[in-house]
Amino acid sequence: MKSSEEIKQIVSTLTLEEKASLCSGLTFWFTKDIPGKGIPKIMVSDGPVGLRKQDLKGDHLGMNDSIKAVCFPAGVGMAATFNKELYKEMGEALGEECRAEDVAVILGPAVNIKRSPLCGRNFEYLSEDPFVASEMSTSYIKGVQSKHVGTSIKHFAVNNMETRRFSASSNLSERAFREIYLAAFEGPIRNAKPWTVMCSYNRINGELASENKYLLTDILRHEWGFEGNVVSDWGAVSNRAKALTNGLNLEMPTSYGENDRELVKAVEEGKLDEKILDANVESLLKLIFEGYDNIGNSSEFIFDRDKHHDLAAEIAAETFVLLKNEDNTLPLKKDSKIAVIGAYAKTPRYQGGGSAHINCHKIVGFLDACKENGLSNISYAQGFPATADDFNESLCEEAVNNAKDADVALIFAGLPDIFESEGYDRKHMQMPKCQLKVIEEVMKVAGKVVIVLHNGSPIEMPFADKADAILECYLGGQAVGKAQYDVIFGDKSPSGRLAETFPIKLEDNPSYLNFPGTLNNVNYCEDIFVGYRYYDKKKMNVLFPFGFGLSYSEFKYDNLKISEDEINAGDELNVSVNITNIGNIEAKEVVQLYVKNCSTPVLRPIREIKGFEKVNLKPGETKTVTFTLNKRSFAYYEEKISDWYVPAGEYEIEIGKNSRDIVLSKSVNIKSEPILPDHYDYNSIMEDLLNDNRIKDIVMRYCSAMAPDSREKSEVEKESMNEEMEYAGFMYSPLRSGLYFSEGKILYDKIDELLEEINKIIANDK
Ligand code: BGC
Repeated sequence: MKSSEEIKQIVSTLTLEEKASLCSGLTFWFTKDIPGKGIPKIMVSDGPVGLRKQDLKGDHLGMNDSIKAVCFPAGVGMAATFNKELYKEMGEALGEECRAEDVAVILGPAVNIKRSPLCGRNFEYLSEDPFVASEMSTSYIKGVQSKHVGTSIKHFAVNNMETRRFSASSNLSERAFREIYLAAFEGPIRNAKPWTVMCSYNRINGELASENKYLLTDILRHEWGFEGNVVSDWGAVSNRAKALTNGLNLEMPTSYGENDRELVKAVEEGKLDEKILDANVESLLKLIFEGYDNIGNSSEFIFDRDKHHDLAAEIAAETFVLLKNEDNTLPLKKDSKIAVIGAYAKTPRYQGGGSAHINCHKIVGFLDACKENGLSNISYAQGFPATADDFNESLCEEAVNNAKDADVALIFAGLPDIFESEGYDRKHMQMPKCQLKVIEEVMKVAGKVVIVLHNGSPIEMPFADKADAILECYLGGQAVGKAQYDVIFGDKSPSGRLAETFPIKLEDNPSYLNFPGTLNNVNYCEDIFVGYRYYDKKKMNVLFPFGFGLSYSEFKYDNLKISEDEINAGDELNVSVNITNIGNIEAKEVVQLYVKNCSTPVLRPIREIKGFEKVNLKPGETKTVTFTLNKRSFAYYEEKISDWYVPAGEYEIEIGKNSRDIVLSKSVNIKSEPILPDHYDYNSIMEDLLNDNRIKDIVMRYCSAMAPDSREKSEVEKESMNEEMEYAGFMYSPLRSGLYFSEGKILYDKIDELLEEINKIIANDK
């Protein structure tokens, strides 16, 4: 490590060209070194669910073979574990791998919100909910960084699709930006302090993320206190000088000197203040020396691939979500006669494509695990090709024949690699037709059918009603088969819960009409109503709701307690609840806490998840789970005050099995100061004026000049005007309507007088 003084001293010895050169990469994976000035280089590598360290040759796309490593389950599955400790453990393992391989920063976690099920990188991303994404990624970052290895939380921000990812502008309201898209980053950046933040390719409301001062400086640094470095996504820089001025520290990968020369020119032409460049180099050197501390002591760390493979298996078992289990079809008995069908039983689809792709040191599929465990009562039929949508009559026939003879057909289906990947988005949510056909044919003859799914994002499931059981395995990493064996045969109970909603069909999704937008613009018209926030508000049927997942055991919830019945906005609230395993086997349950928002004129979701804990319980065991809620648990982002705001009212603290199954609730009353207008004018509405206690009496006085309508109403009038209309007719009228209500007694000079008086009171009140 070098002190700030030492770093400043080094910077003072650098030429303008040297300083500019440090602002971009040396190669695809290295920062620049200047040996003559004592500046070393450090290596960064993808991430985020395994070490994708390329051999030193690299290539211009960074797609060359990387070293043999361990592939853990994809982000989608990691979120489904709802297990913060486990994600931290995975981070620690990756941190150790980085240390052993002299990698200073691993490029992840990827936390972008799943706005649409179609986003090609959904398998890498965590959730449709910012709180879940934020809590889970905080753990991962803490895990990696505990090994003194940096992380790069990505892709900052509002990067929710792959279509035209370098140019598309995500256009959204400030409220959606803050509440949904930034919130996934804010928690980990404030609480886990990632060494770096990777800015995204896209534009936000027209401005490239890499040049976005509001994003990279005003919010990230000034509001959230980020002190690390912002790294560009690979190739995200357009105007280097503007990017640097607005908060981007390091351009990756190399720009072959082009943008370094641009920086020199900008300083020489007076367009870039050299002091900004100096400060940037100081910040970068801090990162470089911090990372370099790790280099050369890799022998202290052993990258034990087999040990991490076992960890990957343990983790994978927790990523699986049991979606259906009629008559306790699962777990299967080890001696039952099983027809294993589907290519993914043999060659599992266990990871996604693109920069997250890991070169695995070994891969264990379900059939491998069965073999390893000496299971002999199973037949196997491929059923369909693993990589394409190509129906093959004889493969299907073989599957059907095997199913006829078996107690149960276990079909390993899902999405082939080409159906979802970095770089492009899906066009639909369907599985390959050839797979659906095999499932349909097998269902005609099999006694029981269990569908085991491998996919990185939600799919439509035309077979859902007919299947006896459905086990969602997402992309379970290289040890997926071992984990499947453990769960399918009941050595472990499934404990994953969906961190995203599965809609019945694509058209149900709130972003459907605006994804992927038109040419370079995508308008986030659904605003804050992403995922369950939308489906729940609209009371829509979904295939599987957010937070859903079954277990082989059963749990009882009771004794929900809250520390206060009434609090002030901003106060903390402690919540506790008991959970008991009332089944016969040891199992884990995810205790989910939702806050049901009070009713307010401001549009809010019905409920939002604000706490979750995973607990392991032996049969009969009870544990107490506690949560501490804070201001943000109740707040929404109020654009009028550019801040978070908690409206006064009655909120429900709900404990649920998922967003649609609330089992316990208690209400808390929150007292809060209203947000009042700071000025009134001719067009101010009577209802607002009369609800403002500061001026209410004066306005009432003004109203008294209006002629009260004391006439007996005629039958026709009674018929055409009810109380609500009468209320609305008056209360929703602008102040200037006093002219008519008073039948000409309140002329404009009176309104001017009133406005002067009330605006003076408001001004003095501030
Ligand atoms: C991806 C990043 C990745 C980087 C380096 C980019 O194309 O968007 O997620 O870390 O490449 O491979």
